[in-house]
Amino acid sequence: MTSRRNALKSLGLAALALPALSAQAESTPAMPLANDPQYWKKLRSQFMLANDKVFFNPGTVGVMPKVVVDKMTEHARYLAAHVADWAYKDDNKEEFISGYNNLMSIRTKVGKLINSEVGEIAMTDNVTHGISYLANGITLQAGDEVLTTNQEHPGGRGSWLVKEKRYGVVFKEAVIGKPIKNSEEVYQDIVKAFTSKTKVLIISHMISGSGAILPIKEICAEAAKRGIFTILDGAQTIGQIKVDVKDIGCDAYAGCFHKWVGAPAGTGFMYVKQDKMKDIWTTVASARWDNHDDEGFRFTQRGTGNFPVLKGLEAALDFLFEIGPDRVHDRIKFLGQRLRTGLRQNPKVKIFSPVDEAMCAGITVYNIEGMTGAKLQDEFWNRGRMRPRASGDVFGVRHCTHIFNSEAEIDKALAIVRELSKG
Ligand SMILES: Cc1ncc(COP(=O)(O)O)c(C=O)c1O
Repeated sequence: MTSRRNALKSLGLAALALPALSAQAESTPAMPLANDPQYWKKLRSQFMLANDKVFFNPGTVGVMPKVVVDKMTEHARYLAAHVADWAYKDDNKEEFISGYNNLMSIRTKVGKLINSEVGEIAMTDNVTHGISYLANGITLQAGDEVLTTNQEHPGGRGSWLVKEKRYGVVFKEAVIGKPIKNSEEVYQDIVKAFTSKTKVLIISHMISGSGAILPIKEICAEAAKRGIFTILDGAQTIGQIKVDVKDIGCDAYAGCFHKWVGAPAGTGFMYVKQDKMKDIWTTVASARWDNHDDEGFRFTQRGTGNFPVLKGLEAALDFLFEIGPDRVHDRIKFLGQRLRTGLRQNPKVKIFSPVDEAMCAGITVYNIEGMTGAKLQDEFWNRGRMRPRASGDVFGVRHCTHIFNSEAEIDKALAIVRELSKG
């Protein structure tokens, strides 16, 4: 190690490279037993996240458990050493490049997570891709309306703006509250904006800028009565809250795994109801562009891709199932609620997440009177090595809680907010 350290030092890389090397050398402790009273404390050691840093931003990109990093690097090493073994059998068992393989094992696990058939799942790189496949793949005429809200992420909006400019489709926004008071209020705000020309509804299941869980089941039911095709942007939901597409009744759902599931970046999916999928044109086309035997595979076949990343994704899904998705969701909400309860006791704090706690989980957006989001973000880092994310001048920070966080971290964050509120 000494000679390696010297070699790195001479390259000026010592500070960067050594922590990564030592982290790699650590082995992962066994998973704690389900009934261990110290369960969450012990689970924290499954993550490589530095112990002197607190991460509150899986709403942007998550923290990979060590097993995910290990599976990914193991497969990258395997490819580097054994690519010559590849015999081009095209039998969906080959794991040298993704993009031609039907990824049945991973798609089956995704189907189990969201309660869909495997044929209804296509693998994508992220939510932006999923929504873009839908926007490009649905046939609309000039003058047809697509309804969204005024609080969507650009990744859910951009492809519709292209469609508007290119084909004369009208992209309309329903204005919703920030904070939203309750489900009825936001339900009315959205369904009142439907017109006889509305053909598609594209909204977030959970709004990223407030953490509001929308009453999507009721909204989709009303849209279905009017023959409107419903698409949900699930960037913030998968791994954070329960998603059951059959129960929701939406026509399509786009999600990702690199935020709340802790999978490598560049992993997502698109779900489309079986009877609707055949009518969606593919955007990224290869040999299967018109092969409807396995609709999900038609979209999953998207040219050479990165198999190690998918190995990491599969490990992240296995990790989630090993803990139990419900248990993960409950823990995320428990910590989020602890944060909101503390913040609500502080008169200088304004919360932009819904007033109704039933509409919240692990995302809390808030500000301290007189502060900008950037200032608050910096104060958290300087005072506690804590990393929530600035959410603009007005809205302060978006502060996410996850299973690698602890009660003590939430309480420390609340103490920092109290200190800052004093002026
Ligand atoms: C609601 C929402 N939609 C879409 C996206 C874009 O996701 P991706 O980067 O996976 O395409 C995000 C990312 O933060 C988001 O929060």
